Amino acid sequence: MSIMIGLGIAILAGCFPKASEVIRNLPVENKEQILSKYNAEQIAEGKVLFTNNCAKCHKLKEPETRTPEQWNKTLKRMIPKAKLNDRDGQLVRAYLIVNSKEG
Ligand code: HEC
Repeated sequence: MSIMIGLGIAILAGCFPKASEVIRNLPVENKEQILSKYNAEQIAEGKVLFTNNCAKCHKLKEPETRTPEQWNKTLKRMIPKAKLNDRDGQLVRAYLIVNSKEG
């Protein structure tokens, strides 16, 4: 809820959705690096967040349609578009990279 209020304030303040510092500075990571940082529960939550937030403007782009490198790049634009906070954005990213096609 506080996230929604925060977003409301950001929109009222005239801010366009823009990647946070955290999201913009995420390193390019491969599957192994993601698996060493996120557990199965977090990745499962990432899947739910992805399903609920990434099909609002276009059909879901399934994880295996992109390589880890492509996801790293695209998500810096799409996480802000989906208005995900840093935590949720990183979980979606973890789910997508772990299930991505081989780079
Ligand atoms: C507010 C609308 C909106 C939301 C929400 C959104 N997208 Fe997009 N997405 C777009 C638009 C518009 C394009 C095409 C233009 C572009 O590539 O920027 C696009 C393109 C894409 C592409 C293809 C472009 C590429 O570089 O591969 C992928 C993959 C993608 N989105 C994934 C996602 C994911 C994952 C999420 C959830 C985190 C998401 N999108 C949420 C609007 C949205």
